Amino acid sequence: MRIVIIGAGNVATVLGRAIKNAGHEIIQVISRSMETAQVLADELGCSATSRFAEVDKTAHLFLVAMSDAALNDLKEKFNVGDKMIVHTAGSVSLEVLKDISTNYGVLYPLQSLRKENKNASVGIPLLIDGNSDNAIFTIGEFAKTISSQVSFANDEQRVKLHVAAVVTSNFANHLFCLAAEYCKSEHLDFTMLQPLIQETASRLRDHSPCDMQTGPAARKDIVTLDKHLRILTAYPKLRTVYLRMTDSIMNP
Ligand SMILES: NC(=O)c1ccc[n+]([C@@H]2O[C@H](COP(=O)([O-])OP(=O)(O)OC[C@H]3O[C@@H](n4cnc5c(N)ncnc54)[C@H](OP(=O)(O)O)[C@@H]3O)[C@@H](O)[C@H]2O)c1
Repeated sequence: MRIVIIGAGNVATVLGRAIKNAGHEIIQVISRSMETAQVLADELGCSATSRFAEVDKTAHLFLVAMSDAALNDLKEKFNVGDKMIVHTAGSVSLEVLKDISTNYGVLYPLQSLRKENKNASVGIPLLIDGNSDNAIFTIGEFAKTISSQVSFANDEQRVKLHVAAVVTSNFANHLFCLAAEYCKSEHLDFTMLQPLIQETASRLRDHSPCDMQTGPAARKDIVTLDKHLRILTAYPKLRTVYLRMTDSIMNP
């Protein structure tokens, strides 16, 4: 398939690599800034532009990986007739594309993607949707060329999964961030916690997370909790999070 990628950020880059590796021909990258469009276009071996008037309409599929807010303004920028166009957002309806083409849908990667990770394009679960049975079939067949994990999810299912994705990935990472900052301030080596982080995540392959809870809150160990909260007096933000999490664990 001939593909145009719209956007040049994390998802555009990681999916662009996966699409190229699958043998598709990426013909153009369009992005708000010419600079970022050119960087991705150079990597994917295609042309770059920052002008929607120059969009290459010989493509079979247009992949839009722009920020959620920018998707709403896209219909004023171009129209691709009956060519397939998909966006990659978890919490935006496929209908945001209805004035751009008669064939449209979603290709949502249920994964945290960063372009710095060159191996990220392998094994990404993809959730697809389309505005007709034909669109769902076409997007599904395309998705299967870049991932072995392709499932259907409508707007409502996708946004609900996005909530779970934010909690499991973005919130968990924020906790790692707070712990790393705390370690730095206390001159402790955060990397010593790596095996603990790995173990916590790997257990979830075989067990329910709620069954795997350990720690002072799960044990209702008030003496230890009190000790920790006294240390955290110097870290009000982390102390607030600690208290909220402790309450959530103790009062499921
Ligand atoms: N990253 C993830 O883990 C992930 C996973 C699943 C789904 N998604 C979804 O994928 C989409 C892209 O996310 P991302 O992580 O790739 O974002 P990103 O790295 O921040 O890249 C956003 C892209 O959108 C463009 N953009 C931002 N604001 C714009 C505007 N007002 N007008 C035109 N273009 C604009 C940027 O253009 P310039 O760089 O040229 O300025 C950039 O190419 C989002 O809908 C997101 O919800 C992300």
